[in-house]
Amino acid sequence: MKTFHTIDGLRGALAGERRAGKRIGFVPTMGNLHDGHLALIELARERCDVVVCSIFVNALQFGLNEDWDRYPRTFEADQEKLAGARCDYLFHPPDREMYPNGLDSQTKVVCPAMTDVLCGASRPGHFEGVTTVVTKLFNIVQPDEAVFGAKDYQQLAVVRRMAEDLCMPVEIVSAPIHRESDGLAMSSRNRYITAPERPRANQLQKTLQWIVEQLQHGNRDYPELEKQGREQIEAAGFQLDYMAICNSRTLEPAAFDDSEVTVLGAMYTESARLIDNLTLTLEKRGEADAE
Ligand code: PAJ
Repeated sequence: MKTFHTIDGLRGALAGERRAGKRIGFVPTMGNLHDGHLALIELARERCDVVVCSIFVNALQFGLNEDWDRYPRTFEADQEKLAGARCDYLFHPPDREMYPNGLDSQTKVVCPAMTDVLCGASRPGHFEGVTTVVTKLFNIVQPDEAVFGAKDYQQLAVVRRMAEDLCMPVEIVSAPIHRESDGLAMSSRNRYITAPERPRANQLQKTLQWIVEQLQHGNRDYPELEKQGREQIEAAGFQLDYMAICNSRTLEPAAFDDSEVTVLGAMYTESARLIDNLTLTLEKRGEADAE
């Protein structure tokens, strides 16, 4: 695996691959890689001839009171993991390479749809930071396809919408959520969970699963399910940010007859904010009634 810290260096290497007709797959990350990230690399590996991964802790997507300065940076270990996963190119630029003119006057890419709800409501400006850096990375790598995890479902939906709206010549591929054995979704931020609360930290996944079961049994009282979901999280000693049953594509509150819905939740532990989601296909009411 070759590592590049400059845009010119990476572009030069990828130009040769493109000339040779290779299909280029791209996995953008902020590093501190776990098996969830490596599954994205594996998926790109299966689908493409050349796999590029970026590691860049993007200041533009962190709020002022968020964890940019303490976000785990584990470059050497990440590099080893990527080489082991047969990644071909690693792009690891310093801040000045990505934002040579500083952050304040940086040109931004704004996706007005879906970005002020759910995570966007409690993290103002976050998705603008994501769409801006992802656009820059797409322009640098010019991949044929880019793989994003369903773990950050809203991010995946926003990136899809951005690529569609701006006619970006890249296929957005989603990878399933990778979980710990107790169901907790893997995340670089799980290291912030304290030892005493760790055994209960899978409550978010358990509650999402409970809501999915209710939906599968024909319960369509979405507000009541969201309310009971909140009560379960609070009873386990956590503070809920949101619990929402949404249309999988638009992320608007699910309508009674939506067939693809995603249940999304975010909760605060003592010092971590955790997110998770589950998607399911609902039977049409008529079909269910006919059984
Ligand atoms: P990061 O949090 O490092 O995640 C990089 C990619 O890994 C994202 O597509 C994310 O959804 C995926 N991922 C993380 N945990 C996962 C899990 N448990 N299962 C499946 N996929 C998982 O997301 C970002 O970085 C940034 O916002 C980025 C897109 C790189 C822009 O800065």
